[in-house]
Amino acid sequence: RIAGPSGLVIFGVTGDLSRKKLMPAVYDLANRGLLPPGFSLIGFARREWEHEDFAQEVYEAVKQHARTPFREEVWQQLVQGCRFVQGDFGDDQAFETLKATIEELDKAQGTGGNFAFYLSVPPKFFPKVVQQLKDHGLAQKEGSWRRAVIEKPFGHDLKSAEELNKVVHEVFPRDEVFRIDHYLGKETVQNILALRFANTMFEPIWNRSYVDHVQITMAEDIGIGGRAGYYDGIGAARDVIQNHLLQLLALTAMEEPGSFHPKALVAEKLKVLSAVEIPEDLGKHTVRAQYTSAWQGGEKVVGYLEEDGIDPRSKTDTYAAIRLEINNRRWAGVPFYLRTGKRLGRRVTEIAVVFKRAPYLPFESGATEELGQNALVIRVQPDEGVTVRFGSKVPGTSMEVRDVTMDFAYGESFTESSPEAYERLILDVLLGDANLFPRHQEVELSWNILDPIEEYWDKHGKPAQYAAGTWGPVEADEMLARDGRSWRRP
Ligand code: BG6
Repeated sequence: RIAGPSGLVIFGVTGDLSRKKLMPAVYDLANRGLLPPGFSLIGFARREWEHEDFAQEVYEAVKQHARTPFREEVWQQLVQGCRFVQGDFGDDQAFETLKATIEELDKAQGTGGNFAFYLSVPPKFFPKVVQQLKDHGLAQKEGSWRRAVIEKPFGHDLKSAEELNKVVHEVFPRDEVFRIDHYLGKETVQNILALRFANTMFEPIWNRSYVDHVQITMAEDIGIGGRAGYYDGIGAARDVIQNHLLQLLALTAMEEPGSFHPKALVAEKLKVLSAVEIPEDLGKHTVRAQYTSAWQGGEKVVGYLEEDGIDPRSKTDTYAAIRLEINNRRWAGVPFYLRTGKRLGRRVTEIAVVFKRAPYLPFESGATEELGQNALVIRVQPDEGVTVRFGSKVPGTSMEVRDVTMDFAYGESFTESSPEAYERLILDVLLGDANLFPRHQEVELSWNILDPIEEYWDKHGKPAQYAAGTWGPVEADEMLARDGRSWRRP
């Protein structure tokens, strides 16, 4: 899978995402030989840069963040196709310059006029940029492809997402719109479908007869860093549950697709997302909270309300936990607990499928005191792999059973390295492969799940609190305890 003649335009190229992820991903793809020789990269931003300044910026980003080793010959080839266009999104002249630059690169580099426009900009600018691309004749080109790549957040509720979808689809045909959910670019996330559908042993027990509940956790140890402007008013549930965690839920719970064709896959994801039911009593089955100042990893960190740029009266959630159910034959009655938070104990994302207890234990009393519930844990990151937890006899002269684990770790089983999520996704955009990109209906269904919860939180009281470096508020523990369960400590 090598991309054909093409180029990429990044709007918002001076931003963090571009420096840390997009530019290094382009270099890594080039280094792995997956880009065509004349591949071109155009940066578009307000900053007063010349082409050379932009090239220098790309160079530094690559040196700092690329995954693959630096090779001068790869860099020399890449830099020949680097151009910068200065302007703001309302500036017609800048879009004319962009057009001329694309034409120039087509001749000089042989891009075939095939360009993807990556909108790494706040959503309020999407409509403007998309309209400008249309008005300046950039959104379509006879005999070539033109694609729009859109970063999250895709709206802040169902209504705004619908409006954005409308604007984008008026300009770009549906098949040429690629919405980024970088979790789908992760190797371990794609492996959920391989684990479930390439094997025989898991699927027969992957249902309400055997599964007690599912816990999907995305924990981060970092705070909000320099992202106050983006984060305040958005919060953990909109930032992460609406997209990453609901996608993980969909992949974990969906039925087997007829094929890996994007249409087949999307059809199954849509079915399962439409079957998601939010709890009636939102006060009991959801929790949101904010971190407070504490010692974390040997360092005193400030609480959310003391962070730079945060309104000290902010009610934005930095932690959210939600209980969902799925109304279908496979899952009816099985809770899916989703939780995410900043400044938690450590960085870990995992999906734990927790099984029911054995119906009868023919052991003496006390022999199974250390036996928990069987679990299959998909370790999304950082320690990528899969763990199966089950009971085993403790060596010795009596019959005692204790939990043990069986592990699959990527590093031990594979010599191949995993591409970074953005690498995989950018390559797929250039190839026109839509499998790893949420369709607009998925985005809308996800907002449909989250909207009533956000509305409830808006109206009812204040977020709970948790000390930085812990595993979240006691209210979240109580939420599970009421169901007779507890959160895993990853
Ligand atoms: C982003 C969120 O989508 O994912 C961030 O906006 C979060 O708040 C990030 O930090 C985490 O990504 P990863 O790949 O490090 O788990």
